[in-house]
Amino acid sequence: MSPFQITRTLPEDATDAALRADVLLGLTGDPKTLPPKWFYDAHGSDLFEQITELDEYYPTRAEREILADRADAIATATGARTLVELGSGSSEKTRYLIEALTGLRAYVPVDVSESALTQAGQALAAERPGLDVHALIADFTDTMKLPDTPGPRLVAFLGGTIGNLLPAERATFLASVRALLSPGDSLLLGTDLVKDEKVLVRAYDDAAGVTAAFNKNVLAVVNRELGADFDLDAFDHVALWDAEQEWIEMRLRARTDQTVKIPVLDLAVDFKAGEELRTEVSAKFRKNGVRAELAAAGMELAHWWTDAEGRFALSLSTAR
Ligand code: SAH
Ligand code: AVI
Repeated sequence: MSPFQITRTLPEDATDAALRADVLLGLTGDPKTLPPKWFYDAHGSDLFEQITELDEYYPTRAEREILADRADAIATATGARTLVELGSGSSEKTRYLIEALTGLRAYVPVDVSESALTQAGQALAAERPGLDVHALIADFTDTMKLPDTPGPRLVAFLGGTIGNLLPAERATFLASVRALLSPGDSLLLGTDLVKDEKVLVRAYDDAAGVTAAFNKNVLAVVNRELGADFDLDAFDHVALWDAEQEWIEMRLRARTDQTVKIPVLDLAVDFKAGEELRTEVSAKFRKNGVRAELAAAGMELAHWWTDAEGRFALSLSTAR
């Protein structure tokens, strides 16, 4: 069994303070919004894993196909001895990289979900003798202090999670990733691609209602953590394609006029029947756009791989 360490880079109460600030800002704004990172308590992380197995949700399968085909090429191009993974979740697809990177010494999964980190990190440490697994409970949009591990470093950001950041957030985030890269280090980025609207909407509005439950879970998190009284049955799950922004938006639509109390914030939030609360954007990309965003952050796209159907892309970049 390899060493497994888990480090919380935020003070114990930071998550609570951040949630309060986000809820106050998001529910008093017009339109109302909540940031998607609050989906991922233990139940939300579990629901996300169920989403990845749905017929309608193609991104995980498409990215897995690319990793299965290209892990050796990624290993040759990077020679990484440390793999840092942002928003690592179950680390399930990461196994292709860990397998292919023969000189790998350290794996540093970074996630806000402690349950996902513990489960995945302990399993990997048990499976991979000699691999130092050092998990970080951290928000990847904050400045990250990584452990001192051997280079070269490969920073992986899989799943298309970059699409859950708004464009300005993406620019700031990519600049902070660039700051983590020393000469010889690389970024492996998963991006879901623009495609037929019906395929996209189906992926975010599955027949079994798992995505609807995932979407509503953010209300359950606010109820539990801040003592709010959201009635999950009083909201409908909405997924729509914004053709101008080229992103999917997930929303929760109030079924009736209602007032939600959030005692911890001394707040009462009115919803009109039909009013929508935006809970997530999931941007879809084109190659030129990805190249331009990377370049703006000081990185150069070196490889671009897609699955056979051209649904999803993995790109490998280095610092310029
Ligand atoms: N990479 C995995 C999981 C994607 S789900 C895959 O490709 O399947 C998105 C993951 O990012 C979740 O595990 C969630 O907890 C994490 N996450 C979301 N926002 C985050 C943030 N701001 N900081 C750190 N982790 C975050
Ligand atoms: C994690 N992220 C890339 C997922 C996505 O597709 O945007 C989250 C998700 N939301 C609904 N289904 C899955």
